Amino acid sequence: MSAAKRDFGSFHSSNVQELLDIQDDEYVPPELPFRCELFETYKSNPPIFGKEIKQKHFLLEDCVFLNHGAFGGVLKDALDIAQKYQIWTERQPLRFYDRELLPRLVHVTRRIAKFINCNAKDIVLVENATTALNTVIQNIPLKQGDNVFILNVTYGAVKKMLRWRCEQTGAQLQEVEVDFPIKDKQQLIDYVDKNLKEGSSLAVFDHIPSNTPFIMPLTEIITICKSRNVPVLIDGAHGLGSLPLNITSLDPDYYITNAHKWFCSPKGTALMYVRKELQTLTRPLIISHGFGSGFNSEFIWAGLHDYSPFLALHTVLDFWEGLGQDRAHQYMHGLCKQAGRMLFEGWNTEMAAPEDMFGSMCLVRLPDGLQKISDHMDYSAAETIQNTLYHDYNIEVPVKCVQQRLYVRISAHIYNEMSEYKTLRDAVLDIEQSYKEETCQNK
Ligand SMILES: Cc1ncc(COP(=O)(O)O)c(C=O)c1O
Repeated sequence: MSAAKRDFGSFHSSNVQELLDIQDDEYVPPELPFRCELFETYKSNPPIFGKEIKQKHFLLEDCVFLNHGAFGGVLKDALDIAQKYQIWTERQPLRFYDRELLPRLVHVTRRIAKFINCNAKDIVLVENATTALNTVIQNIPLKQGDNVFILNVTYGAVKKMLRWRCEQTGAQLQEVEVDFPIKDKQQLIDYVDKNLKEGSSLAVFDHIPSNTPFIMPLTEIITICKSRNVPVLIDGAHGLGSLPLNITSLDPDYYITNAHKWFCSPKGTALMYVRKELQTLTRPLIISHGFGSGFNSEFIWAGLHDYSPFLALHTVLDFWEGLGQDRAHQYMHGLCKQAGRMLFEGWNTEMAAPEDMFGSMCLVRLPDGLQKISDHMDYSAAETIQNTLYHDYNIEVPVKCVQQRLYVRISAHIYNEMSEYKTLRDAVLDIEQSYKEETCQNK
């Protein structure tokens, strides 16, 4: 009996592995009840990036929004479809949860696996990167004296997960400091090459660190980890949607990415890839019905919750396939570079790394006149400027303090345009001027 015709009333978490095993040419996916036909037409008639696509496909208000990197920004059409699934669910909850949900989750898993080029049996859908990172870190066997390696640019919450785990087990967290501005990617490779100890229990790297968003040279770093027998976890929270992802060619041990950030899925969607040999070691933090039935079965049902963001991934995939992922990335990366250059030239400063190390976000140093707004250049000095930009200029952009210097981190998505970064440039110069006038008066 084909998968589509089967009575899924008898379908349980334990059948998930079986459905993932079916070869592509024999697999019959469940029909999609909700679709956005428009995206098919984009393949021959692509939309214009910038303001036009923002109005058409995003819910963002009238604000210079240069902080997609924080919490994403949902694709309006995908949120509409997620809401349709929610309503459909509540019209007959048993039909949805008992008969439809799991085969639909398998379908969307198969599809997203193709998009990032890995086997569908090696990935699971989870609510967010934080859940997946905790899952991996809690499952790594650690004991007294073991070593875990990170660079100090690792995401703050991940450092806390690792510190806690090391405290519990007696393992050591080795944290290597990155010096800014970065000269080239070799500098990062050298930090790993010179410091990573043979046989460490785990090394964790951000694909794109949140505060200092250069692209980590993963190919070289993963090769070093392998040569020293160190399992490597990549935190790609900013990966999917901001860069082309090819898990098979990257070949990490663990790769985690959000779909609800740069990919623009409704909130509550992330992916966790685990190399086959490590899957029996990687157990869910939430134990439910699928436990004991294999990797995918164990993760597919995390109790009763809203699964609509996962199913709306179809719409997001249709969107990216319609736009052409390469075309979208070309726009985003090109805009980011052009904007970064315009800003550091306008402020007479520099980027925190060479421009070819940035993708959809970059870090530009603020003008000298703003580098001494406080005796202690720290997070609160950064926050003061960030809040002024928001309250007085309607610009949403984060200001970061890195090694006692203030930088802005700009994001460039398909809905952004050059004029927005010019507004930012002028606003910063204006704030610098006011600050100079204020300090002169106070002398
Ligand atoms: C590098 C990095 N890792 C992990 C996370 C956590 O992502 P989430 O809050 O979606 O779990 C973030 C969020 O911004 C991040 O930037």
